[in-house]
Amino acid sequence: MNSVVIAAAGSGKRFGTDIPKQFHMLGGRPILVHTLEKFESCDAVDEMVIAVSEGHLERAERLIDDAGFAKVSAVVAGGDTRTLSVANGFAAVSNDADVVAVHDAARPFVTPDEITAVIEKAAETGAACLVAAVVDTIKEVSGGAIVRTIDRTKLRRALTPQAFRYSILEKALADVVGDATDEAVLVEMLGVSVACVEGSGRNIKITTPDDILIAESFLRSENEI
Ligand code: CTP
Ligand code: MG
Repeated sequence: MNSVVIAAAGSGKRFGTDIPKQFHMLGGRPILVHTLEKFESCDAVDEMVIAVSEGHLERAERLIDDAGFAKVSAVVAGGDTRTLSVANGFAAVSNDADVVAVHDAARPFVTPDEITAVIEKAAETGAACLVAAVVDTIKEVSGGAIVRTIDRTKLRRALTPQAFRYSILEKALADVVGDATDEAVLVEMLGVSVACVEGSGRNIKITTPDDILIAESFLRSENEI
């Protein structure tokens, strides 16, 4: 069986609203519900554990009940950092899970096909990360001037989900200190190779209020398909 931990315990400082961005409404439903729907409808996923901040546990449980998501096995309190939230979620995952994926609640435009591809790659190789191409020319700068131009064909943006064999993620999250912006880096630090799965640039992380404008138009086009 395969599980997913949804990291939904952030406070959304850059988004700037009182209520964390994962509860912000998009097309009449909270962003978190859009995200969970993608995993609920993905045949490769058997179980979902959601990490939300202590003060939003009840709100999240209510949303999940109302939406009738059958795969949610636990809603747990997250931590002060994303890594701690993922570690708390991982602790509630069934220990007979083969592959455990981790996903940002703030990425509602992931597709069930992308989720399946990442889980299948992790089952085969041990660790996999959804990535997208870099479209801008990237410069290394110092003291206000360009030092060099980096070959962007070698660069990828790390998206989520990222998926790992249970034992690999268990090791990566053991004794975590500090905060990492994703799980792949923790697995890289173990010396384990992380395979890339090319994903769509549409899988944006809603971070600032401007992202809602983009999200609304993506949602419209999703609904037209
Ligand atoms: N996250 C989490 N626990 C934390 C911090 C973040 O579960 N302590 C989650 C967020 O809810 C989000 C994902 O990690 O779904 C990606 O993080 P980010 O986009 O940085 O969200 P926030 O930390 O909420 O936003 P900000 O950094 O602007 O405060
Ligand atoms: Mg953050």
